[in-house]
Amino acid sequence: MNKRANFATRLGAILAAAGSAVGLGNIWRFPCETGANGGAAFILVYIFCIAFITVPVLIAELAAGRESRTNVYDAFRTLPKKTILGRHGRIVWTFVGAMCVLAGFLVFSYYSVVAGWTLQYTIEAGIDSFAGKTSAQFAADFNTFISDPVRPALPMIAFIVTTTVIVTLGVQRGIELASKIMMPLLLVLLGVLACCSLTLPGASAGLEFLFKPDFSKITPQVAISAMGQAFFTLSVGMGCLMTYASYFSDKVNIVKDAFSVAFIDSCVAILAGVIIFPAAMSVGVSPDTGPTLVFITLPNVFQQAFGATPWLCYGVTVLFYLLLVMAALTSTISMLEITTAFVSEKFGLSRRKSAVMLGTVTCVAGFACSMSFGNWSDVTLFGMGFFDLFDYFVAKLVMPIGGIFMCLLMRSLGKEKVVSMLTNNGTLRLRRFAEAFYFLVSWGIPVLIMLIFLSELRG
Ligand code: PHE
Repeated sequence: MNKRANFATRLGAILAAAGSAVGLGNIWRFPCETGANGGAAFILVYIFCIAFITVPVLIAELAAGRESRTNVYDAFRTLPKKTILGRHGRIVWTFVGAMCVLAGFLVFSYYSVVAGWTLQYTIEAGIDSFAGKTSAQFAADFNTFISDPVRPALPMIAFIVTTTVIVTLGVQRGIELASKIMMPLLLVLLGVLACCSLTLPGASAGLEFLFKPDFSKITPQVAISAMGQAFFTLSVGMGCLMTYASYFSDKVNIVKDAFSVAFIDSCVAILAGVIIFPAAMSVGVSPDTGPTLVFITLPNVFQQAFGATPWLCYGVTVLFYLLLVMAALTSTISMLEITTAFVSEKFGLSRRKSAVMLGTVTCVAGFACSMSFGNWSDVTLFGMGFFDLFDYFVAKLVMPIGGIFMCLLMRSLGKEKVVSMLTNNGTLRLRRFAEAFYFLVSWGIPVLIMLIFLSELRG
């Protein structure tokens, strides 16, 4: 077999994984879920889900990926040892691997649509076309834009092409370099924007909403949303970080890196909240405005909150959308890498050919998703248009099911093997942790995910 690529540095590996995790899920989805589910109480449940469900699944994914040194499909085919799934185990594992690859393709398709919107908004903010618009105009312009067949397709294609170019450059010169440049920049931008938002009069109401929990708001529905968000935001359950981990060196401390990624990701989500809620509340906008929060409410909020100082208003708006673009880009790179690794290794094609081919097909699928906001809104399956269908399949089905199988995979490897994987063959002093981890992933976590998952399907 040919020599597999590796991340050159430990920092590069962490930043790439964090780049995959940090995305629209943090800056777009998290604030709108927090707004819709009662603020601080939701955040508490979310942090619980991150710590006790998705971080262990993330550790399992990273360990499995590094152990397999191959794409997610082959990893699921070759890794499982004990026959815990009975006679047909092999078929089931193959199916799980295929499901992950398919999810990688679908998530890239619909995510690129929203990523395209962020690019369009960055350009519009850049040419200062937001100045003086009323909130009704923001809403009307956004709705006309997303339902147009051509206009949203152009930035979406630009986004897919950029992602494809970075992936064709390879693990070190493409993924690692892009993450090393964009992640620190993203953190700086977040810090600057949070400071701007905090200086607004009345910002404290927003902070209270974010940090002062009202425990009566915790309901099963909140738990379900929190778990969904915890999976999506860490990119776990579909083999994305498993693919990245297949490029990790043997010396990487997987446990530590998983916690670092979860920490960075949660900080970014909370900082995004600190940018958005104080600004919204300082101008009297309710925080629970749903998915259009970032595209309709927020540009309007920025106009009102910072409008008195035009250069500041311009700067904050442009930087905010630029932040979204960069966050989305580091995530789409990791999505395309799942399928590129699969196609190039399975069919013996070059990385470049595979990525270009997949990027092209994604443009077509992405176009269908984009059209589901316009002319094709009545083309539905199970009552959903393409965009919602892909999102449902990936975020509500594949991620939790994949999470359960990541846990079962650990169980099939057996305790000693798992301990040796997490301790790097006994060289790291993590034995106790590894044993507790094995216990958690063999029993507690799959059962917990199953419970929440089933109530989600019923709901
Ligand atoms: N975690 C990414 C985000 O928060 C989304 C993502 C999902 C990335 C699945 C890769 C795979 O935006």
